[in-house]
Amino acid sequence: MSQESRPTTSSLVVPETGLSKIISNYQVGPDWFVLRLEEPAIAKASKPGQFVQVLCSEPGSTDPLLRRPFSVYDVDKEKGTYDILYTTVGRGTRWMAQLPEEGAPLPTEENRRGEGLAVDVIGPFGNHFALPEEDDQVILVGGGVGVAPLYFFSKELCQKFKTPPSITMLMGARRKDLLQGIDAFRQLPIRNEVATNDGSEGFKGFVTQLLEELLDGPYKTTDPQKIKLYGCGPTGMNEALRQVALGRGIPCEICLEARMACGFGICFACVVPIKKELGGDLYNRRICLEGPVFDARLLGEGLGERPLDGKMPQGPICPTIS
Ligand SMILES: Cc1cc2nc3c(=O)[nH]c(=O)nc-3n(C[C@H](O)[C@H](O)[C@H](O)COP(=O)(O)OP(=O)(O)OC[C@H]3O[C@@H](n4cnc5c(N)ncnc54)[C@H](O)[C@@H]3O)c2cc1C
Ligand code: FES
Repeated sequence: MSQESRPTTSSLVVPETGLSKIISNYQVGPDWFVLRLEEPAIAKASKPGQFVQVLCSEPGSTDPLLRRPFSVYDVDKEKGTYDILYTTVGRGTRWMAQLPEEGAPLPTEENRRGEGLAVDVIGPFGNHFALPEEDDQVILVGGGVGVAPLYFFSKELCQKFKTPPSITMLMGARRKDLLQGIDAFRQLPIRNEVATNDGSEGFKGFVTQLLEELLDGPYKTTDPQKIKLYGCGPTGMNEALRQVALGRGIPCEICLEARMACGFGICFACVVPIKKELGGDLYNRRICLEGPVFDARLLGEGLGERPLDGKMPQGPICPTIS
């Protein structure tokens, strides 16, 4: 599990039409939905940790102008479909929530793209999680929308390894009803543990406190290198995970989120201070292009809420125009 074992740039797929057919769009929680889209090129190319950019506006409209990034939550390469788990927070995601499903009565002509109902999506973008060794103890730590790439990753691990590495998913939320996607994880042959801030289900406290309890108890080891941590969640959770991993010398990869515009390296909207090599200086690095998955040892303290002055990224601005 090393930063070098992953591509450092996106493996962008632009489907011929740019359109992904809507297969289903259903509600899985108070403000949570799963959108299933069909576009074989994206389904085939996607790896856990990567994301797609969805144009959340009606055909012919430029409002909102910018595409919205979403992790790939699941894929079915045979059927050519991929899923997005999303929560409604603003205009773009509310627009997605009202998209009809395949088989639903067709909306007005203006809502149609091409022959059927489809959305304009490009991707996948970014790098991906590195595979652990087959005999590693894998612990996934997720919260909020961060559970999406971890679900795709745990499914891939279960399929790739004949005798899967021992996998534990730790999911954290403020309350029981906010533990989104937990039912899907419970269908997998992995161990699931949950933590809620109010104790309404599972461990009472932060998911990273639960992680520490497990590392001090059942997962105590003399060889921290045999544990592999993977995390994705809100900044506070990611930072706590970084500290646990560094403090105990456990290899850890964290999938970061940032506000994005282009999604493929040209606008610099998504920069965060991150080292290029172990022990090196912090530079503003683009989460969309050089991430979103990073070795926890490369991340700055507090995960750098603000870019650094005067330390812009180096190297090709955009892989496609360099
Ligand atoms: C690499 C990546 C992967 C992502 N994966 C998922 C996913 O799998 N599922 C999912 O639901 N969301 C995911 N997101 C977040 C998603 O992109 C935003 O929720 C979405 O862009 C919001 O669009 P909107 O138009 O609905 O909200 P807006 O109207 O743009 O914003 C509404 C509110 O949400 C906040 N917001 C918007 N984007 C972000 C963000 N990136 N981080 C924190 N706060 C934000 C804004 O500050 C504002 O307060 C991901 C983001 C990134 C960068
Ligand atoms: S979003 Fe444009 S460079 Fe990352």
